Amino acid sequence: MGLFPYADRYPVNRELPTTGRPRAEILAQIEEMSAAEDAVAHEGKISGSIYSGDEAHYAFLNEVFGHYSHANVIQRDMYPSATRFEGEIIAMTAALMHAPQPCGVLTSGGTESLMNPLLVYREWGRERGITQPNLVLPSTAHPALHKGAHYFGIEVRVATVTDQFVADMDSVRSLVDENTVALAGSAGSYPHGLIDPIGELSDLAVERGINLHVDGCLGGFILCWGEELGAGVPVFDFRHPGVTSISADTHKYGFGLKGSSVLLYRTPELRRKQYFIMPDWEGGNYTSPGMSGSRSGGIIAAAWAAMVTLGREGYLAIAADIFRTAARLREIIGEHPELRVLGDPKFNVAFAASTAEALGDDPIDIFHVNDALAAKQWRMNGLQHPPAVHFCITRPNTLPGVMDRFAADLHEAVGYARERRGTQPRSGATYGAGGASIPREKVAAGISGWLDATQALPPA
Ligand SMILES: Cc1ncc(COP(=O)(O)O)c(C=O)c1O
Repeated sequence: MGLFPYADRYPVNRELPTTGRPRAEILAQIEEMSAAEDAVAHEGKISGSIYSGDEAHYAFLNEVFGHYSHANVIQRDMYPSATRFEGEIIAMTAALMHAPQPCGVLTSGGTESLMNPLLVYREWGRERGITQPNLVLPSTAHPALHKGAHYFGIEVRVATVTDQFVADMDSVRSLVDENTVALAGSAGSYPHGLIDPIGELSDLAVERGINLHVDGCLGGFILCWGEELGAGVPVFDFRHPGVTSISADTHKYGFGLKGSSVLLYRTPELRRKQYFIMPDWEGGNYTSPGMSGSRSGGIIAAAWAAMVTLGREGYLAIAADIFRTAARLREIIGEHPELRVLGDPKFNVAFAASTAEALGDDPIDIFHVNDALAAKQWRMNGLQHPPAVHFCITRPNTLPGVMDRFAADLHEAVGYARERRGTQPRSGATYGAGGASIPREKVAAGISGWLDATQALPPA
C-alpha cells in the first residue's frame, strides 16, 4: 500500500469535488476499504488495537453513537443525557478502581488522560511555590507523559527499570527532589504490559507529600478483573493512599468506540485545577472541563452503552479468556530456548531473543522472528532497549484455534531467524507501525520528514 493508500483505486481529492458524489458510491468505497482493513483483525492476528472485535457489539455501539453523533455536549442544557452518561461512566470506573468517591472527567483518549493530570500537578506545584516542576517516571512510561510535560513546561526525570522491566525504586528515589510535583507508574506499561511497584511509589508519594499518577490507560479495564479471577495481579489502584489519579481507557479494554478514556482524581480539589473557565468573555461565561471544547455526545453514549451492556459478568468473561490466552502464549514462547519473556506479564506479553550466555549459542534476531510472523499476517508491536516484540492479547486473539496457529507459525519463525543469523531483518521497533521499519530513506530525511510524508497525496 505504501505511502499513497488506494492511489490506484479511488480518485484523489485535491480540492472539493464541484458536485457532491452520490451517497451510495461513497458508502461503497467506505465499505470496501473498511472490510479489507478489518479482515486480518477478524482472524485474531493483531496485537492490541482491536480490543473487542465483536461485530455485533460494534453494530450496537454504532447505533447508540448515531443517536448523538451530532450532539455537542458542551451545550449541557440541550443534552442532559450526556451529563447523565458521563456521571455514570465516571462512577462505574471509580468503583472499579476503588476510588474514595466518584471524581473524574471523560477525555478523548489515553494521551489526553495523561496530559491533563500533568497540568493539574503543575498548578498544584505553583500553589506551593514550585516554579520549576519535575515529574519522575520509569523509562517504560508512555510517551504521552513526556508530551504533556513538554506542552506544560515540566521537566521529566527518567528512572531506570529493574531486570524485571518495572520501575527501579532506588532510581526513582534518587531523582525526586523538592521540585518534584508527581511520580508516575504504569498498570500495565505499553512496552511490556507490566505493573510498576505502585505500592512503593505510593509510599514514596505519601512520604514526600507529592502526587502519583497511575497510567492504567492500557491495562486499567483488564487488570481490574485480575484479582477476582486469581490472575496474580497486584493492587494498583486508589487503595494505595498515595495514588492521586488513574487513567483507564474505555476505548481499549473498556470495549467502547475509539475516542474515549476516563481520568479519575482522588479529590475534586485536584480535578478543579484542570477546568478552564473564562467568566468575562464577550461570548459568555466559558467553562470547559478539559482540553476539548466541543465534544461528541455519540462517543460518550457509546462508552456508557459498552459498559452497561457488558456489565460485570461480561467483562469478567472476556478478561478470563484474555488472561488464559496470555498464559498459553507464555507457554508457547517458553517452548523455544531462543526466546525469553520479559518480566511477568498477564495480558500483554513481550518477548526478546535469549542472550548468547543463556542460549549457549549465537542469539537470533527477534526482528527476523517478527519478519516471518508478519509474512503470515501476524501483526506484533516492535520494541527496543532491548529489541523485542509484544503480543498484547485482546478478545479476537482468544478465539478458538488462534493460539494453535500462532504456535505453529512461531515455530517456523524461530527456524527462519536461526537460518538468518548475521543478516539484516526488515522490521524494527516503530510504535504504531506493527514493528515495521521506517523506510531507510525516510530515516535519513529525519523522522519528522517521514511524518510529513505520511500525509502526502500521490503525485498528480
Ligand atoms: C500504557 C499506555 N498509556 C497511554 C497510551 C496512550 O493512549 P492513546 O493512544 O489512547 O492516546 C497507551 C496507548 O497504547 C498506552 O499503552
